[in-house]
Amino acid sequence: LTTPAVRMVEVGPRDGLQNELVTLSVQDRAQFIRMLASAGCSYIEAGSFVSPKWVPQMADTEQVFQELENLPRTTTLVALVPNLRGLEQAPSRVNEIAIFAAASETFSQKNINCSITESLERFRPVLEMAAQKQLPVRGYVSCAIACPYEGAISSAQVATVTRKLFEMGCCQVSLGDTIGVGTPYETKRLLQEFSDEEKKQIAVHFHDTYGQGLVNILVSLEQGITTIDSSVAGLGGCPYAKGASGNVATEDVLYMLHGMGLETGIDLMKLVDAAEFICALLGKPTRSKVGAAIAAT
Ligand code: HMG
Ligand code: MG
Repeated sequence: LTTPAVRMVEVGPRDGLQNELVTLSVQDRAQFIRMLASAGCSYIEAGSFVSPKWVPQMADTEQVFQELENLPRTTTLVALVPNLRGLEQAPSRVNEIAIFAAASETFSQKNINCSITESLERFRPVLEMAAQKQLPVRGYVSCAIACPYEGAISSAQVATVTRKLFEMGCCQVSLGDTIGVGTPYETKRLLQEFSDEEKKQIAVHFHDTYGQGLVNILVSLEQGITTIDSSVAGLGGCPYAKGASGNVATEDVLYMLHGMGLETGIDLMKLVDAAEFICALLGKPTRSKVGAAIAAT
């Protein structure tokens, strides 16, 4: 491996909390994000500006950002937005936004109530307004390996949607194994669709439903990927992808990367404190094996 450092994207406060039964208070959500930032997470997806009818757990995200107004700007805070209305709600502490498309037509309908083509049209003015506000835009392509409704998704289709997002102005595209079923072989095949130049702007986003997250990340690193999404304590899932469990746990990824001599800038022990804080609030044990092992010693 030649990767000197890996850029971690902490999605716990958004992907993690969006799928929990408990809806946390604005103060608790903000405190969670402060703890992640003080552990060294420099890029945090802090919430989403979506319909509270669709995802009640993400209601009041505006207030969460307002609570974080004084968080040092060395931490980039990202918000997921599905449409112009979402971006209009974003307060000044939002440093970057993420739009989310899918490689599966059915998932697109179930998740954002429109086709893939309609979603891209809907994102166009979002990207234009973001450019005016000088906000970088990250794109997601969900169902990059499989769809909960359609089954296997072709890598060529994933590449087509990804390239459209780049053409429209996304600075990075994160490929989501939304239901966490992909194997290393499928991950490699997917990433081989992209050139080395493209891979510099691609992130991987593995849910860990079938326990393949870490090994898929290893394959991704070997393929030249340097940005990894993960969620502290392995929280998360998508409300519109039934049965999908949380993202690969950040603690587990850090243990692997640090053990390979790859820098992340995150302090594992402090991250475990943030995991304990959030798990206590949610009333559930961590899904991170590393977190559980550290807690037991
Ligand atoms: P819709 O029903 O087609 O749109 O929803 P609409 O324009 O008719 O709006 C419906 C209601 O939502 C209206 O309210 C709007 O005002 C309101 P009502 O008149 O019924 O009272 N509304 C909004 N409210 C707040 N903020 C907004 C907003 N827009 C409309 N921005 C819509 C379309 C996109 C809004 C809806 O489908 C939605 O919110 N979907 C979000 C679903 C979601 O958040 N899913 C999880 C995130 S994606 C994910 O987890 C995958 C990922 O992690 C990668 C991976 O793992 O693969 C990223
Ligand atoms: Mg996800």
